[in-house]
Amino acid sequence: KSEDLQIAIDGPSASGKSTIAKRLAERLAIVYLDTGAMYRALTWAALKEEIDANNEKAVTELASALKIHFEADDSKQQVFVDNENVTNAIRRDEITRAVSAYSAIKTVRDIMVDKQRLIAKQTTGIVMDGRDIGTVVLPDADLKIYLTATPQARARRRYAENNEKGYSTESLATLEKDIKARDNYDMQREQSPLKQASDAIVIDSSDMDLNAVENRIIEEIEKL
Ligand code: CDP
Ligand code: CDP
Repeated sequence: KSEDLQIAIDGPSASGKSTIAKRLAERLAIVYLDTGAMYRALTWAALKEEIDANNEKAVTELASALKIHFEADDSKQQVFVDNENVTNAIRRDEITRAVSAYSAIKTVRDIMVDKQRLIAKQTTGIVMDGRDIGTVVLPDADLKIYLTATPQARARRRYAENNEKGYSTESLATLEKDIKARDNYDMQREQSPLKQASDAIVIDSSDMDLNAVENRIIEEIEKL
C-alpha cells in the first residue's frame, strides 16, 4: 500500500531532493522528513552558542539536548528549535557554509540518526531526504532514489531559486564553487559519506524538469 511506503532520497545539494520529496509526500499522503534541516538546526544553535565544530564534546551535548520539531503549514513545513521558528534562519549562507563540518561528527550523526529512525517508527509511510538515508537511516526502505545532476545544472537551479525568492545571491560561478566544495566534503568524510546505496535507483536530472523526475519515481513505485 502506498501509504505504508518508506522512501529514501539521497544526493548532493540542489539535485532536487526536497522538492521531489515534498511532492511525493503530498501525492502519496505520507510524511516528509527533511533531515538536512535537522543538521542545519544544530548548526544554527551551535553558531548561536559559539560552539566550534572542533569542540566535539560540546557539539554532541548540544545535539542531544536540542529539541527540534517540525510543524506542517499549508504552504511549507516550519522548523522549530525549542520554540523558536528557525525555518528561514537555517537557510542562511553562514549556516550552509558551516553545516558540513558539524554534520561530519560521528557522535552527532548517531544522535540525529536515532531521532530520524524514531520518527520513521512512529509513522506509517514516510519519505526522507538527505545524504545517508538509503545507506544508514533506512537501509530497508521500500524504494531508494539517488538523485543527482551536474554541478553546473545545480548551481543554475540555486541561482534561479535565489532570484525567484528575492534572496541575495552569490554569482553563478561562486555558487558552483561552493556546491563542489560541499559535495567534496560530504563525499569524503569518514562518517556516512554521501554515496549511492547499492540498491538505489540513480536519476541524473541534469536535463529533466521536476515533473519528469516525479513521473520517473512514480513509475518505480508502481513496480513495487
Ligand atoms: O539543501 P541542501 O542540499 O543544500 O542541503 P541539506 O539537505 O539541507 O543538507 C545540509 C547539509 O547537512 C549537507 O551538506 C550535509 O553536510 C548535511 N546532511 C547530512 O550530513 N546528512 C543528511 N542526512 C542530511 C544532510
Ligand atoms: O533538496 P535539494 O538541495 O536537493 O534541492 P531542491 O532544493 O529541491 O532544488 C533546488 C532548486 O532546483 C529548486 O528551486 C527546484 O525547483 C529546482 N529544480 C529544478 O528546477 N529542476 C529539477 N529537476 C530539480 C530541481
